[in-house]
Amino acid sequence: MSRRPIIAGNWKMNMLQDDARALFMGVAKHAEEYTVEQLPTIVIAPVFTSIAAVESMRCSKCRPLVKTAAQNCHWESSGAYTGEISVEMVKDAGCDYVIIGHSERRQYFSETDEMINKKAKAILKGGLLPIICCGETLEQREAGQTDAHITSQIKAALDGISSEDVAKSVIAYEPIWAIGTGKTCDAVEANRVIAMIRNVVKEVAGEAAAEAIRILYGGSVKPSTIEEQMNQSDIDGALVGGASLKADSFNEIIDNTMKTM
Ligand code: 13P
Repeated sequence: MSRRPIIAGNWKMNMLQDDARALFMGVAKHAEEYTVEQLPTIVIAPVFTSIAAVESMRCSKCRPLVKTAAQNCHWESSGAYTGEISVEMVKDAGCDYVIIGHSERRQYFSETDEMINKKAKAILKGGLLPIICCGETLEQREAGQTDAHITSQIKAALDGISSEDVAKSVIAYEPIWAIGTGKTCDAVEANRVIAMIRNVVKEVAGEAAAEAIRILYGGSVKPSTIEEQMNQSDIDGALVGGASLKADSFNEIIDNTMKTM
């Protein structure tokens, strides 16, 4: 198994351009002490209005070391969709990845599995990579519905996507009760769910795609939790919220990940 870990920082709706530039530089300077081979794939996801600011700081040295992601996109390529941003626009801004289906978007903006599937297809068609989020509520977990819920989210998100494209994609398992609460999901349990997701991927896209796809854990990831998480068999990295907003803590997560590589 040689899946390269991904450490992705989801900055959510935080930071103006100056702060975004400074945080990016804090991450890039640290990454520049290493080679691509030594590092996990590092991805940061600023707000749309700060992507250009961050891109302007991506020198030829740090470009391959720190990738950028958008936090959302629309599935149509252009047209009368006020307030939306297409895959082509995200790509034009310099991003390599797009986070889709985050629970905050599902919860506050009524995103459905069908919309997330359309976005995933558009992202892959446009030559970018989706980071597809899934996760259960506390109520679902307590009612024993975690596996069934996640299975249906993953099957819907990957519906109609070729095995080759599934293999390149990224999934982030983010239990909703662990997001922003400080309550990290137990690493063994997170690994169990992620291994279950890998089995679902195997069922819908075959063994090679299941072996290749990178599945991250997200939800109160901290420098102190990442090593145990990364030492699990199926956890391929982390989607980090709060701890990605300070260069020190995000860089410490990267350092602790490297210890496990
Ligand atoms: P926290 O790391 O702040 O819990 O956020 C996780 C998350 O939602 C990343 O997408």
